Amino acid sequence: MRASVYRERFAVIGDAGTADAVQARIANQMTQWGQRLPFNKVLVLGDNVYPSGDPRLFDACIAKPYQALWRREVRFFPVLGNHDVKAGFGDQQLAYWGVPAYYNFKFGPPGQDVEVFALDTTVMVPGALGGEVSPQNRKRAEDQAAWLRQALAQSTASMKVVMGHYPLFSLGAAAKAKRLFWQQALAQKLAPILEQYGVDLYLAGHEHHYEAPKKLNGVWYAVSGAGGKLDSPVKGLPEQAGLIKKNHFMLFETTAAGLQYQVISDQGQVFDFGLIPRKGQSLRK
Ligand SMILES: [Fe+2]
Repeated sequence: MRASVYRERFAVIGDAGTADAVQARIANQMTQWGQRLPFNKVLVLGDNVYPSGDPRLFDACIAKPYQALWRREVRFFPVLGNHDVKAGFGDQQLAYWGVPAYYNFKFGPPGQDVEVFALDTTVMVPGALGGEVSPQNRKRAEDQAAWLRQALAQSTASMKVVMGHYPLFSLGAAAKAKRLFWQQALAQKLAPILEQYGVDLYLAGHEHHYEAPKKLNGVWYAVSGAGGKLDSPVKGLPEQAGLIKKNHFMLFETTAAGLQYQVISDQGQVFDFGLIPRKGQSLRK
């Protein structure tokens, strides 16, 4: 019998809502891996319902692919992506999942507890047609930033994870000037908050590939945006160190050392793994 060491696990998917065979393969891998390494939470990084968040596709993109996990009482914690809000159905989708636009939750025992802060980053950038952020969204973004500061300041969790659809830093943004511009604007607003309050990890999607966690000013940034979609081999940046074009999900596990992760392809292969160490501990990979 294995020694009973407390381990809490959660999965991460991004840009998954295609309702196609790829999403189904990832969901199937999650179900299979969950039998060996049980997890009870999935963080869903946005673009959950392609192409434009149509409520008639909620069942096909959300309920159906993950029904085996729902049956095991795995809980899903989503944020909205640009495709979810582009036709104005963001609030309906949040109601379907049963979550607000931004929120936090905590799990794990004292000393090894993890708190997750879920953000709606879509209110921080202009819509698909460009232009300026609407006054309504600017207000929502300001309210959200004030909430985030307060929630982070009050957190006593041993590790803090923030999740949002848009990356603050990514290699992929360099492929498109407009994207890079907005990413930098987002980073200017959010990165100082993450740094000030000791956030350990920021998880994002939007870029349809995997970018390995990278540490900047004390915060680790990772991109997991290929839970259904995938950049073509020729679109955007080529594969390179830290950027892998494979459909995948991530599986995290809390340990005394920090958050261990593995990255699992739609074929069930682990193609990256590592550790987000607790602050004050060195990286072991
Ligand atoms: Fe996106």
